[in-house]
Amino acid sequence: MIILVTGGAGFIGANFLDHYVPRLPEHRFVNIDKLTYAANLGSLAAISGRDNYVFRRVDIADAAAVDAAFDEFKPDVVIHFAAESHVDRSIAGPREFVRTNIEGTFNLLESCRRIWPGGTGLFHHVSTDEVYGSLGDEGMFTETTRYDPSSPYSASKAASDHLVRAYHRTFGLPVKLTNCSNNYGPLQFPEKLIPLMISNALDGKPLPVYGQGTNVRDWLYVQDHCEAIWTVVEHGRVGETYNIGGNNEVRNIEVVKNLCRILAEETGKDVAPLEGLITYVKDRPGHDLRYAIDATKIRTELGWSPKETFATGLRKTVRWYLDNRAWVDSVRTGAYRQWIEHNYERR
Ligand code: NAD
Ligand code: DAU
Repeated sequence: MIILVTGGAGFIGANFLDHYVPRLPEHRFVNIDKLTYAANLGSLAAISGRDNYVFRRVDIADAAAVDAAFDEFKPDVVIHFAAESHVDRSIAGPREFVRTNIEGTFNLLESCRRIWPGGTGLFHHVSTDEVYGSLGDEGMFTETTRYDPSSPYSASKAASDHLVRAYHRTFGLPVKLTNCSNNYGPLQFPEKLIPLMISNALDGKPLPVYGQGTNVRDWLYVQDHCEAIWTVVEHGRVGETYNIGGNNEVRNIEVVKNLCRILAEETGKDVAPLEGLITYVKDRPGHDLRYAIDATKIRTELGWSPKETFATGLRKTVRWYLDNRAWVDSVRTGAYRQWIEHNYERR
C-alpha cells in the first residue's frame, strides 16, 4: 500500500513515521510537508534512508503541487497531519491557519476525489478536541458534542472537519476522522506548554503561566495518539469519528510544577529555584477553560487504550529533552526567538 502522510516533519507526524516506517516495510510511506518553522527533517534522520520512505516538499495550499504529488505516487491511503497548530499564533496571525488548515484540506480532498473512483482509497483526517470549544467544571466531549470552536486555530480545524464529512456524504469519499486531546512527548516544538517549560527551566528563564494556571487539559503521550490513529486507519469504520484522549485531566499549574519536580530529580538540582521561575502572565484571549475527552467509542469498538500514564510519559519526555539539547537548539532559529519575544513581551 502507498500511504501518503501530510505534515510528517512536524511533531506528531514525525513520531508516527519514526515508529511505523521501520515496522511496516510492506507499505511505502510518502511524506509531503511544506517545512514551516514547526518542521524538522532532522527528526526523521533514522528513517530517511529507508527503501519504503520518501519525502517531497509540498505546500498543501498549492493545489497544483498537491495534484502533482498525487499523480506521482498514487496513494491508497492519506493520513492528514499537516496544519498550522499553535493557538497563540492563530491569534497573532490567523491567515495561514485559514490557508493551510481549510484550503489545504480542501485541496487534498479534491485530489483524493480525482484519483479514487468509486469509493476506493481512505482519507484519515487528524483533528483536535478544540473543535468542541470549552467545558465547564463538569462533562466530557463525545463524538456527538456540538462544535463550538473558540480560536482561529480551532475554527479552521472545525471547518476542515466539516469539509471532510461533506466529501463523504456528498461524493462518497471514504473518510475517517479522529479528534484528539493535548499531545506531549519527544520532538514537540518548544512553543507548546510542556517543551517550552522544559527548555525555559533548563535555561533559567521565566515559566510563563497564562492567567491563574487553572485551565485544564487532558494530556496524551504522542505515541499513544499515533497508535490510536493507526488502529482507526486499520480497523475503524468508514465515515466515522473517533475521539482520542488520555482520561488524564491536569491543571496547567500542576503540569508546570510536575515538570519542575521531575527536572530537579533528573538533574540533581533543587526544585525551589525552578519553581521560583513560575511567572503568571496575561491570559490568552478566548482561553478555553477545560478539555476532557470521552474515549469510550475507540476503547470499546477498537480496543485501543493508552499505554503511558502521565507520570511515566512526562518523565520520558523530560529525559528526551535533556538528552536532545542539540535538537532544541537547532529548532530555535531566529524566527523562533522573534516569536517568543513578540508573544511574551505583550503579556
Ligand atoms: P506541528 O505544528 O508540530 O506540525 C505541523 C506540520 O505540518 C509541520 O511539519 C509543518 O511543516 C506542516 N505544514 C504546515 N503547513 C503546511 C502546508 N501548507 N503544507 C504542507 N505542510 C504544512 O503540528 P502537530 O502538533 O504535529 O499536529 C499535527 C496534527 O495533529 C494537526 O492537524 C493538529 O491540528 C493535530 N492535533 C495536534 C494535537 C497536539 O496536541 N499537538 C492534538 C490533537 C490534534
Ligand atoms: O487539545 C488539542 C490541542 O492542544 C491541539 O489541537 C493544538 O494543536 C495544540 O497546540 C494544543 O493546544 P493548547 O492551546 O491546549 O496547547 P498549548 O501547549 O499552547 O497550551 C496548553 C495550555 O497551557 C493552555 O491552557 C495554555 C497554557 N499555556 C500555554 C503556553 C504556550 C500557558 O499557560 N503558558 C504558555 O506559555
